[in-house]
Amino acid sequence: MDVSTAINQRISTRAFLDTPLAETDVKTWLNDAQRSPSGGNVQPWRVIAVTGDERQQVVNLATKTLMANPAGEPTDRPIYPKDLGEPYMTRRRRVAYQMYEKVGIARDDAGARMAWMAKNFTFFDAPVGLFFVIDESMGHGQWAHTGMFMQTLALLAEERGWGTCMQECWAMLRPSLKAHFGLGETEMIYCGMAVGIPDPAHPVNTVRAERAELNEFAELRGF
Ligand SMILES: Cc1cc2nc3c(=O)[nH]c(=O)nc-3n(C[C@H](O)[C@H](O)[C@H](O)COP(=O)(O)O)c2cc1C
Repeated sequence: MDVSTAINQRISTRAFLDTPLAETDVKTWLNDAQRSPSGGNVQPWRVIAVTGDERQQVVNLATKTLMANPAGEPTDRPIYPKDLGEPYMTRRRRVAYQMYEKVGIARDDAGARMAWMAKNFTFFDAPVGLFFVIDESMGHGQWAHTGMFMQTLALLAEERGWGTCMQECWAMLRPSLKAHFGLGETEMIYCGMAVGIPDPAHPVNTVRAERAELNEFAELRGF
């Protein structure tokens, strides 16, 4: 598969088959992605991959923690800025509408939307979940570089016939996940990722999120 095809066909996969992924394949995949660049070659990421019972333990932890605290645990690095201005807010709403439309959830059905959101915390039934760990001392640069590593993983997953969904929702459980995984004192979870074989029959996997036109995001000067 060429890179353009991988980029074009990658989507956030939100329904998976229960087919397991072999440890050796996951190791090769992670190792291949390790060629991702990072400023100063710092490689600020660390990854924890869970499957089987380890995955289930995290799912149980999420259920328990979110039942006690549905708004999530405190974090000093929220998923979005407090006031997400335009055009960002409209884009965010638009992809949510697209997704709920595909899965037959009405815009005003808050209960069904919540239930759908909760699927995040079972990795949308994916057999493997990843957690990206970063040191608290790292700044926005290193967070961006970790994102590049994640995108490399997502593209390499396409080549393997796997699907991925990056999952910043796990930021809602940072303190609990830190304790659960026994992270170092200054380490924190940045983001999660669901990985597995996409369910080809599920309508959510037909969502093709829109993108801004070239003239909205790019400026070409001096050509
Ligand atoms: C860092 C990051 C975190 C994300 N977190 C979530 C998440 O928690 N749950 C979810 O369903 N999608 C999540 N997404 C997926 C985005 O909603 C998705 O990338 C966007 O709508 C564009 O759709 P596409 O990936 O299908 O092209 C995340 C994406 C990124 C890049």
